[in-house]
Amino acid sequence: MRTPILAGNWKLNKTIAQSREFVASFTPLVQGASGVDIVLCPVFTALDATREAIGTAPIALGAQDMYWKDAGAYTGEVSAPLLQDAGASYVVLGHSERRGRFGVPEPDLEGQAGAVFGDSDQSVNKKLEAALAHGLTPIVCVGETLAERQNGHTDAVVENQTVMALNGIEANQISKLVFAYEPVWAIGTGETCEADEANRVCGVIRATIATGFGAEAGDAVRIQYGGSVKPENAAQLLSLPHIDGALVGGASLKADSFAAIVKAALA
Ligand code: 13P
Repeated sequence: MRTPILAGNWKLNKTIAQSREFVASFTPLVQGASGVDIVLCPVFTALDATREAIGTAPIALGAQDMYWKDAGAYTGEVSAPLLQDAGASYVVLGHSERRGRFGVPEPDLEGQAGAVFGDSDQSVNKKLEAALAHGLTPIVCVGETLAERQNGHTDAVVENQTVMALNGIEANQISKLVFAYEPVWAIGTGETCEADEANRVCGVIRATIATGFGAEAGDAVRIQYGGSVKPENAAQLLSLPHIDGALVGGASLKADSFAAIVKAALA
């Protein structure tokens, strides 16, 4: 009943030419793939060219972040209206590589997943409100660090991030957003969260939303898993009831591996 959604987060990779090349190779591989939403999230500078390359193919465009103000004296930022102008209909918000758990960039974390760019639960909430107000679909990332998991805080961290992200949101808006459970320790490490555990935590997110916004909202919201998703593990993850798709980093950089993940959702 929930349409699977496979999103490729290219992070800080691919030039304009490489983004176009990807689309040219990828589009024929997913031709005829129906009943699934496919999203590509290139760097800001390649959004417009990627949109052009996609043309009329059933592939949506997403951005990797945005600021909550529409325009003004905010050097270096982009906004929801500008992302729409470039053709985006989705935006990733609160990725662990953008969150800063201490409110400031942590130089010693540079190069590792997580806590680099100072996003907070409050800023993620403001971005989410702005994205929805402009009709962009947010993909809201939540997930625990290794230390939080080892200390038994996984569920509390994920519940708290979910509640904070949704502060002030109306129940009827919940179906317009996507969550992504991305355990920080599984991102870019090759280490995948065990499928049953990923499904369990996605269920915790769903239950948190159902508690706050009603059972219907909990049933409607789509929840992706992200963290070292590859063609080899996608089918198992995507077969589980609370996992409605994948947010894919490394394996989305190659057309054949991302197409294989899309096909795993159709199986
Ligand atoms: P990897 O698939 O490279 O682990 O990255 C996951 C991710 O962070 C997607 O947003």
